[in-house]
Amino acid sequence: MTTPPPPTQGLRGISAGRTAICTCGHEGKGLDYRGYSIEDLAAHTSFEETAWLLLHGELPNANELAEFKTRLRGLRGVPAAVCTALEQIPADAHPMDVMRTACSVLGAVEPETEEMHSAERLLAFFPSALGYWYRYANDGKRIDTNTEDDSIAAQALRLITGEAPIDEAVKSMNISLVLYAEHEFNASTFTARVVAATLSDFYSAVTSAIGALRGPLHGGANEYAMHLIERYSLPADAEKGIEELLARKEKIMGFGHAVYSVCDPRSDIIKAEALKLSVGHADEYLFSVSETIEKKMWDEKKLFPNLDFYSASSYHFMGIPTPLFTPLFVVSRLSGWAAHIIEQRADNRLIRPTADYIGPASRPFVAMDAR
Ligand code: COA
Repeated sequence: MTTPPPPTQGLRGISAGRTAICTCGHEGKGLDYRGYSIEDLAAHTSFEETAWLLLHGELPNANELAEFKTRLRGLRGVPAAVCTALEQIPADAHPMDVMRTACSVLGAVEPETEEMHSAERLLAFFPSALGYWYRYANDGKRIDTNTEDDSIAAQALRLITGEAPIDEAVKSMNISLVLYAEHEFNASTFTARVVAATLSDFYSAVTSAIGALRGPLHGGANEYAMHLIERYSLPADAEKGIEELLARKEKIMGFGHAVYSVCDPRSDIIKAEALKLSVGHADEYLFSVSETIEKKMWDEKKLFPNLDFYSASSYHFMGIPTPLFTPLFVVSRLSGWAAHIIEQRADNRLIRPTADYIGPASRPFVAMDAR
C-alpha cells in the first residue's frame, strides 16, 4: 500500500467552496462583509443593518431597515413549549446548552416554512430565550421578553441584566454584535453549511452550528479569556502568570488566529470599547491586566489578541455574567450562519470530502472463537 501524502491538518489554506458573503485574512489582516470593511461597518451601522446586509447582500435603505426592525420586535416572543423546556434546564447548566436546546425546540414547535422568516425569527428569539432562561433559573421569574427596546443590543442587555441599559453599553454591545456577525468558513459556519447541504432544515443547521461554536478553540474563547484575566489583580502578577503558563506550553485563550497572520482587525475596535467602558468601573484594573497580557503575548510569542480577548472585558464591564459571553456570540453569528445557509442552498451540492486511509491493509475476518 502506498502511503498517502501528509494531510493539511484542519483543512488550513484549502478552499472548500465559493462565497459572496465575506473575505477575511487578505494580506493577513483584512475583514469585509459583502465588500464593506469591518471598520466602516462597526463605525457606521447598527447590528440590524449589518444583519440585513449579510442576509440580502446590500445595505438596507431607511424604509427597509425600519420595517426589518419592526418585524424583529414582533418576533421576540418565546412560545409556551419553549418556556416549559427552558424551565427544565438547571441553573448550573452551561448557557450554550440553553441556546442549543432553545433552537432545537423552536424548530420542533415552529418548523421552517420560509428561510428568511426563520432567519428573522431566530435573530429576535435568541436574546429572548437566553434572557428567559437566565432570569428563571437565577431569580425564579418568568419574564416577558416582548420588550419595547429599539434594538437587539438593548434588548439583550435589558433581559440579561434585568435593568434598563445605559446608552454607552448599548453602543458597545451593538459594535460587538457587528464584529461577531460573520467570518467566512469558520468552524461553526462550515458546520451550518455541511448540514444545510444535506437539505436538512434551517433549525438543524443552526443547532449544529451552536454545538461547533461552543468549544474553547472557537467561540468559547471569550469565556476562557475572562477567567484568565480575572486570575490577576495586578499587571505584574499577570506578566508572571503568563510566563508560567507559556512555560507549561498552555494555550492562552483569546490569542492567535487560524486565518489572520498580522492582526485581527476586530481587536483594536473592541479594545477601544473595553477601555471606554472600564473608566470608573469597580473592576477598572482588569483593563490594565488585559493590556499587560497583550504585551506579554506579543513579546514572548509574537501572538496578537483576537476578537475574543477584549470582547471578554468589554462584556464584563457591561455587567454580563461570564457564562453568557459565548451565547451572545450566537446572537450575533446567527446572521452570518443564516446568510451562509441561504447561499449554500442556492447553489447546493452535498459536502462530502474524502479521507487518506492510514488503517490496516485488507485482512481475513477473524471468527469470534479465534480472537
Ligand atoms: N497561546 C499559546 N500558543 C499559541 C496560541 C495561543 N493562544 N495560539 C497558537 N499558539 C502556538 C501553538 O502552540 C503552536 O506552537 P508550536 O508550533 O510551538 O506548537 C503555534 O502557535 C501554532 O498553533 P496552532 O494551534 O497550530 O495554530 P492554528 O492556526 O491552528 O491556531 C487557534 C488557531 C485559534 C486555534 C489558536 O491560535 C488557538 O488555539 N488560540 C486560542 C483559542 C482562541 O482564542 N480561539 C478563538 C479564535 S478566534
